[in-house]
Amino acid sequence: MSIVLGIESSCDETSASICIDGKIVSNIIANQTIHEQYGGVVPELASRVHQQNIVPAVDQAINAAKISKKQIDAVAFTRGPGLLGSLLVGTCFSKAFALANSIPLIEVNHMQAHILAHFIDEPKPKFPFLCLTVSGGHTQIVLVKDYFDMQIVGETLDDAAGEAFDKTAKILDLPYPGGPLIDKYAKEGNPNKYTFPEPQIAGLNFSFSGLKTAILYFVRDQVKANPNFLQENLNDVCASVQSRIVSILLNKFKKAAKEHHITDLAIAGGVSANSGLRKGLTDLAKEQNFNVFIPQFQYCTDNAAMIAIAGYYKFLNKDFVGQDVAPLARMPF
Ligand code: KG4
Ligand code: ZN
Repeated sequence: MSIVLGIESSCDETSASICIDGKIVSNIIANQTIHEQYGGVVPELASRVHQQNIVPAVDQAINAAKISKKQIDAVAFTRGPGLLGSLLVGTCFSKAFALANSIPLIEVNHMQAHILAHFIDEPKPKFPFLCLTVSGGHTQIVLVKDYFDMQIVGETLDDAAGEAFDKTAKILDLPYPGGPLIDKYAKEGNPNKYTFPEPQIAGLNFSFSGLKTAILYFVRDQVKANPNFLQENLNDVCASVQSRIVSILLNKFKKAAKEHHITDLAIAGGVSANSGLRKGLTDLAKEQNFNVFIPQFQYCTDNAAMIAIAGYYKFLNKDFVGQDVAPLARMPF
């Protein structure tokens, strides 16, 4: 039997999870609400709240799994990419936990872990598959050849898809993080009411900064003509923006599938919680005969279950790191 403790602290979620023989038995997530009033994550505040939350989160994860600390065989933690001060809290905690309990330490790449969240539940994708990883900081199409053999075949040249959602929300005077709110209002709106531009970017790369500027100018002009424009049309604006972000993502994803002759497609990362993207991918799969893999909501946004499952596969390979390991704000695959 192998028991892995997973720790996630790369941004503003402090999370701890226990994985027993490849099964997730607990996943505790402490959200930080302090950032809402600032309209975005304040790195210094995030690190301080991680310090307060990490020990209770780990205790709760261990209790919920009905195990004792002494039974844990390894601790896996997010080494990067992310906010350095936030990563330091999880890294230092994990090093101390490993040292105190004389167990190995496992480093995990946060973006790989988002993809490996697909190995938490059935059905699991078969290698090779393509994963569209869409979060607040990244937008990538990844060719996944094996658990830790992944190649980025397309990525954003500027803003991430999550940023496109969050920055649009800011333009619409919605609080941070705006992605889930745009999703909520879009459900009541008409996606064909307004047309926003689709950028023409070569190959499998993305760009979202032009879209953001187009939305900014559109809203400014509409509000000038009618000060109540946003109150009267919020649902339709949200639905139209969401529909464009989803079409940008799925057109490139479809192109990647054709170019790489892959029919198993997965989505991962916070934006994979978006209902428009989930439905769009399901429809695309029906039309093109693709097999699609969509994670449970709780494994889309940041969580330690994905770190624990990635840690479990590294534990099987005895892929450990030493006490000299340091977190990385940028971390290639
Ligand atoms: O993966 P994640 O939790 O954190 C990062 O690693 O960045 O992703 C967070 C991003 C935020 O931009 C948030 O607005 C977006 O995911 N997000 C959504 C939804 N839920 C979270 N975007 C659109 N629709 C949603 N339902
Ligand atoms: Zn993430």
